[in-house]
Amino acid sequence: MTNVTMLASLSKEFLRVTHLAAVASYEYVGLGDRNAADQAAVNAMRKAFQKIPIKGRIVIGEGERDSAPMLYIGEEVGAWGENHSECDIAVDPLEGTNLCAKALGGALSVLAVSEKGSLFNAPDVYMEKIACGPKAKGTIDLSQSPKENIKKVAEALDKNISDITVAVLDRSRHKKLIQSIYKIGARIYLIEDGDLSASILTSWSGNQENVPVDLIMGSGGAPEGVLSASALKCLGGDFQGRLVFQNEEEKNRAMKMGVTEIDKVYSRDELVKKPVMFCATGVTGGALVKRVMKTVRQVETESLYMNSETQECSKISIVTEIEK
Ligand code: FBP
Repeated sequence: MTNVTMLASLSKEFLRVTHLAAVASYEYVGLGDRNAADQAAVNAMRKAFQKIPIKGRIVIGEGERDSAPMLYIGEEVGAWGENHSECDIAVDPLEGTNLCAKALGGALSVLAVSEKGSLFNAPDVYMEKIACGPKAKGTIDLSQSPKENIKKVAEALDKNISDITVAVLDRSRHKKLIQSIYKIGARIYLIEDGDLSASILTSWSGNQENVPVDLIMGSGGAPEGVLSASALKCLGGDFQGRLVFQNEEEKNRAMKMGVTEIDKVYSRDELVKKPVMFCATGVTGGALVKRVMKTVRQVETESLYMNSETQECSKISIVTEIEK
């Protein structure tokens, strides 16, 4: 049995981790406090990991030990019993903290698990990203222009350029990119937050709102980049990322974490080397999954579960009774 098959036997336990983190942050939906929402998700996630029979280490987390008291990079999670397998864990307890604070759709609680040494240790800096779905896999190239990439993806999808939609984060740093996409004649799905969800939408056939996303482009968080690569490895989509540093300090931090090639374009399989398992639970709901639904007696969530080895991709509902 490979390590990831063994880890897949714990899929219910991992789904429970994102379920509990989503339920905890749901208490803060629409209350305008993104940090409190994030903290609630972190606390719940960390507690939920404790009983899982693994020797887990956080490789993508809330930041470095000094700045993050919990789920920091390098933190050990799980039960750490003698016979338990070692694994890399990437977490984003609340992806879309602003979306949660503003009660906008798309906030998720997310984790990915893989064998030890499989996941890229990304520092918390920006990453320039490009992603597409399975039909266009192998056509994207971050070192090429947006025009070249859009042309290639349009050909692979047998579409006109005017029928291609690119998801881009609505940020001033993307002004030039946005103008160039409009100039080519493609469309833009301009998002307030959540480039991880947008990446998944390039490849997820169960898109409940039929949001058309053929490509994602632009820069966002590097941790979300590794999580996107994990999900796309399960879904057969493609991803490339290159770290973007705003100062020398960020560069030094990356080198301390083991990044040797600062300007390298990383492929999906260089960011996630071995088979991976991915879980995401909806907090506020959107095109991917429903929001947390709560009554006096029970709370229900909807999650995506994916496994790159078994190629399983499913939606799972979890209901828990509320203790009085
Ligand atoms: P948070 O949940 O950490 O707020 O991240 C949301 C997000 O939109 C990510 O999806 C994206 O990668 C990143 O922020 C972009 O960063 P910035 O808001 O600094 O442009």
